[in-house]
Amino acid sequence: KKNLKLGLFGFGCVGQGLYHVLHETHGIKAEIKKICVKNKLKSRPIDEHFFTYEKEEILNDPEIDIVVELIDDASAAFEIVKTALQHGKAVVTANKKMLAEHLEEIYNLQKKHGKPVLYEGAVCGSIPILRNLEEYYDNDLISSIEGIFNGSTNYILTKVFEEKKSYAEALRKAQELGFAESDPSLDVKGFDPKFKLVIAIAHTFGLFVQPEEVINIGIDRISDLDLKFAQENNYAIKLIARAFKSNGKVYGFVAPQFIDNTNPLATVRNEFNAVQVRGAFAETQLFIGKGAGSYPTGSAVLSDISALAYDYTYEYKKHHQDTDLVFSNDLLVEA
Ligand code: HSE
Repeated sequence: KKNLKLGLFGFGCVGQGLYHVLHETHGIKAEIKKICVKNKLKSRPIDEHFFTYEKEEILNDPEIDIVVELIDDASAAFEIVKTALQHGKAVVTANKKMLAEHLEEIYNLQKKHGKPVLYEGAVCGSIPILRNLEEYYDNDLISSIEGIFNGSTNYILTKVFEEKKSYAEALRKAQELGFAESDPSLDVKGFDPKFKLVIAIAHTFGLFVQPEEVINIGIDRISDLDLKFAQENNYAIKLIARAFKSNGKVYGFVAPQFIDNTNPLATVRNEFNAVQVRGAFAETQLFIGKGAGSYPTGSAVLSDISALAYDYTYEYKKHHQDTDLVFSNDLLVEA
């Protein structure tokens, strides 16, 4: 195996998680050479020789094989990804917003520069869903993918609904624990799970969809009446992301839904996520795992670094080139 040299952008919750899990494993030959950060005044938990404030120190370093992009700002992240590919480096990123907004360009850039971009950590944290969609399933036979794609809001719903905590307290705790986005309205209003759904749609159906095309309704729209109705009827309320195929079209949305207590999705609590894949012949598989947090997401990022050691690349949907599917957001589908 090669000894891979990594250049990191960002050293927040996920970056520090990656640092930790990388040092706990002996299976992967990879080391962090440099970490590019923004704030010169922040004190850092590891030795200062790792840090730089100049992105060129990583992007122009011929020794660095993989750029690991873990910053918050989606447009700055996209610039980093483009430059890294131009400089012949493979990329690992967990930036859902950037990926959802630029997925088709990133697909084309990978082909142009012959270097892969992997992002298992961007979709449902520790759940290995992208590689399963890529490798395990015959995508033509998948009829739907759905589930709980956001840890913060599932944590808030659990605390408020089951444990009777206040909404404000639950949100503050989700922020403290590193689950929430730095702008938590992205979680609460359903944008974050929508970004993940857009990415999943590309790997499930071979379709590149713009986030604006997908409807998102957040947990801020749940009323007291909804809570009462759920309690009276033994339902859980979960923020569901769903994409499905019907008559040559793919539909997708994010919205809170009443989930019957006998449905396994109702038992998925706190920062756990769940992804349910349904296929014509495989029937249903349910993946459950932590969807947010430093170590679980750091582990997913590490799995991508490990996959690059054997030159893994995504094929997107295997028949991407000849798909006839189109996306539609007219959700009044005939059942
Ligand atoms: N804010 C996201 C969540 C982080 O709560 O699920 C993981 O993508």
